[in-house]
Amino acid sequence: MTKYLITSALPYINGIKHLGNLVGSMLPADVYARYLRQQGHEVLFICATDEHGTPAELAALDAGLPVAEFCRQQHEAQAGTYAGFKLSFDHFGRSSSPQNRELTQHFGHRLADNGYIEERVTKQVYSRADERFLPDRYVIGTCPHCGYAAARGDQCENCTRLLDPTQLINPRSALGGSEDIEFRDSRHLYLLQSRLAPRLRDWITSRTDWPTLTTSIALKWLNEGLEDRGITRDLDWGVPVDRDGFEGKVYYVWFDAPIEYIGATKEHSDARGLGDDWRSWWYDASDVRYVQFMAKDNVPFHTITFPATIMGSGEPWKVADYIKGFNWLNYYGGKFSTSRRHGVFMDSALEILPADYWRYFLIANAPESDDATFTWEHFAAQVNKDLADNLGNFVNRVLTFSRKRFGEQVPAGAEAGPPEQQLTDQLVTLLGEYQSCLDGLQFRKAAQTLRTIWSVANSYLELKSPWLEIREDPAAAQLTLRTAMNLIQLFALISEPIIPDAARTLRGIFDLGDADDLGDAGAAGSPWPALDDVRSLSWVAAGTPFTVPPVLFRKLTDEDIEAWRERFGAETAA
Ligand code: MF3
Ligand code: ZN
Repeated sequence: MTKYLITSALPYINGIKHLGNLVGSMLPADVYARYLRQQGHEVLFICATDEHGTPAELAALDAGLPVAEFCRQQHEAQAGTYAGFKLSFDHFGRSSSPQNRELTQHFGHRLADNGYIEERVTKQVYSRADERFLPDRYVIGTCPHCGYAAARGDQCENCTRLLDPTQLINPRSALGGSEDIEFRDSRHLYLLQSRLAPRLRDWITSRTDWPTLTTSIALKWLNEGLEDRGITRDLDWGVPVDRDGFEGKVYYVWFDAPIEYIGATKEHSDARGLGDDWRSWWYDASDVRYVQFMAKDNVPFHTITFPATIMGSGEPWKVADYIKGFNWLNYYGGKFSTSRRHGVFMDSALEILPADYWRYFLIANAPESDDATFTWEHFAAQVNKDLADNLGNFVNRVLTFSRKRFGEQVPAGAEAGPPEQQLTDQLVTLLGEYQSCLDGLQFRKAAQTLRTIWSVANSYLELKSPWLEIREDPAAAQLTLRTAMNLIQLFALISEPIIPDAARTLRGIFDLGDADDLGDAGAAGSPWPALDDVRSLSWVAAGTPFTVPPVLFRKLTDEDIEAWRERFGAETAA
């Protein structure tokens, strides 16, 4: 048994996330966490909302709410959709928690004590009309390079050049449009990342088993040369900088957000009265394997800036043992986008179909080696073929036929013969492959292998055709049905990481008298099958009572596709 710490990138607070966010971090992390729990490992799966920064302040302003209240509501709303998708977080925290405040300030002090912090005075844009400092991207003006009139203070969208707001011609506030702005001196803390670059490089190059997506992004940053980074801001909403002369300033959101991985673990311990348990996951925790999940835009922050914070602290906090990065999931000619409301959002997804449909499709098409595209046609075709036919039909067919002919108990029948032997040989190999995929975080391939296992079961059923066997030899038909029922039990056990609701329904079919009362989120799950159990296929013995469950997955129709294309917009950009 190993201790596994699993984190998925912390979703930003400003609104419900889309399927691209889900497949790029939280969902695969959940599949992995569930699998490891079933394997009997001690797992801590942590996530939280990332709540600080200007976008949250502005969204709150838009909603007419104080920012703290806005974040509280949004946190609840996000937590609701994650529960709906059966994400089994052990804790879903908030980066605005007191625990994170304390830890963030602690890291700030440690970095300073170790000489990695420098105060610098910089020019910041102050809007007299808005009575606040404006972050660079909330200043607009004319680009000094190309003359584009609506260039943002951090970058010109037209010529893509990086800018400093002081370079803009006729700068104005993006909030109210006021030109009544000035450049004020402001004192800020800089993290001297450049000094940590050699250590970061050693660390990254020592990770030979990481996906190239992850290491190549990290090395690109290192090769371009690390710049020292301002880690404080002139804002109200954030972790206050507890240092003389920094009254009214907060840490930059990207500084405190990843620290919330630790903060949320402490929130978890505090909420459950576990005392210092949180430290055993993070501090001097060489017995813990720490795996992070995120989309590729988050990789620099997890391979460079967060590790720089950790290393610079000089304390033995845990750094990631493995970072699983994902590419983008696209939706009809563009990225899923929260700001443009482009794509399918998690709340509306659950309005049209239960979690498992989405979970299966997204894992089967996870953007691992490349970007992937979501289309309604592909979604419906795959759900129908794999879930409704391959899995659902098998279960239904076997159970209804057996009930009709032999009653509501698992039939006994003949001894297993060569076809059963051949079946179990195949299954042992496939289950081994499935496990390697999950151990190796190859999600797409894992789903593919699972579906092959379902297909092998179907082929066996076709080969034996109990509806024909029964005419000549009822005992032979009974053997086939009993075997098929054990396959259903196998599905129940091994499908759980990906489609936990269906797995739960499957587990309820056979009355095994083991009080199989496992909850959804956070439950240990049913124990993962040993290869030997697959060889004997004897979980459900003759005489075990069973019930036929309702249809597991409904077929999606052309009308469904039409309606969803309409509702969610499905025009490919020219
Ligand atoms: N909120 C960021 C995003 O949505 C991710 C933050 S991950 C963390 O891209 F580690 F910094 F918290
Ligand atoms: Zn320009």
